[in-house]
Amino acid sequence: MLVNATEMLQKARDGHYAVGAFNVNNLEWAKAILQAAEECKSPVILGVSEGAGKYMCGFPVVAAMVKAMLETMKITVPVALHLDHGTYEGAKACVAAGFSSIMFDGSHYPIDENVEKTKELVALAHANGMSIEAEVGTIGGEEDGVVGMGEVADPAECATIAGLGVDFLAAGIGNIHGVYPPNWKGLDFETLDKIHAATNNIPLVLHGGTGIPADMIRKAVSLGVSKINVNTECQLSFAAATRQYIEAGKDKQGKGFDPRKLLAPGADAIKATVREKIELFGSMNKA
Ligand code: 13P
Repeated sequence: MLVNATEMLQKARDGHYAVGAFNVNNLEWAKAILQAAEECKSPVILGVSEGAGKYMCGFPVVAAMVKAMLETMKITVPVALHLDHGTYEGAKACVAAGFSSIMFDGSHYPIDENVEKTKELVALAHANGMSIEAEVGTIGGEEDGVVGMGEVADPAECATIAGLGVDFLAAGIGNIHGVYPPNWKGLDFETLDKIHAATNNIPLVLHGGTGIPADMIRKAVSLGVSKINVNTECQLSFAAATRQYIEAGKDKQGKGFDPRKLLAPGADAIKATVREKIELFGSMNKA
């Protein structure tokens, strides 16, 4: 069932759990995540970055594929198809393509411009029955081998952006995309608490879910985090399982080179990772 993410995240906030948003890269990825969510009876969000959208030949292809999969796979749990870290143009393209949710990442604009563009996209998303996420405070991560520490969002700016009618809000609290460096200081819970207090109970989003220890995840959820994004961890699981298959020479046994066989261990590994996250985030049986 394709839905926007508003109701599922409000329920998560009220029920003190979080819904996982898992990035998809291709059919195998989408299939594995949907299978895991259905087996766990968990709501789920499929995140599509601008880059992954291009890779899959455009947002209309992704929307058509996911909608058809929900039907042919007989998926009964609520599923949101969500643009991850969208540009202004990308957000508009996903509205036109039939996504059910968008994120507008205006965190790199000066706050006034972020406000103007967010306002416009809130109106557009809501007119189309879609949910919209905004971001304050850039989420760091690795770029060209340099790991940037995550910015910490200003609670007052969070209040401004939350007040524009966005349905859920991503705020930097020292989280970064990709694997955390050994000297990472952990999440800034003091700031999270202030943001939560300043934003009228809006569901909060934690990006960079890969590698955050379980106790920090639980604490973040207790402070209003209702959506947790995971990408790298599925990629690492997929790569490790595929490597194991090839290093064991299985692609050279019989028809082991058949892509449906070669990609199967990786897909199973993604499923296992998603299942593990659903358990940790507490969304099991919440569909
Ligand atoms: P990770 O790749 O660190 O899991 O982050 C995912 C994310 O936040 C996508 O928006």
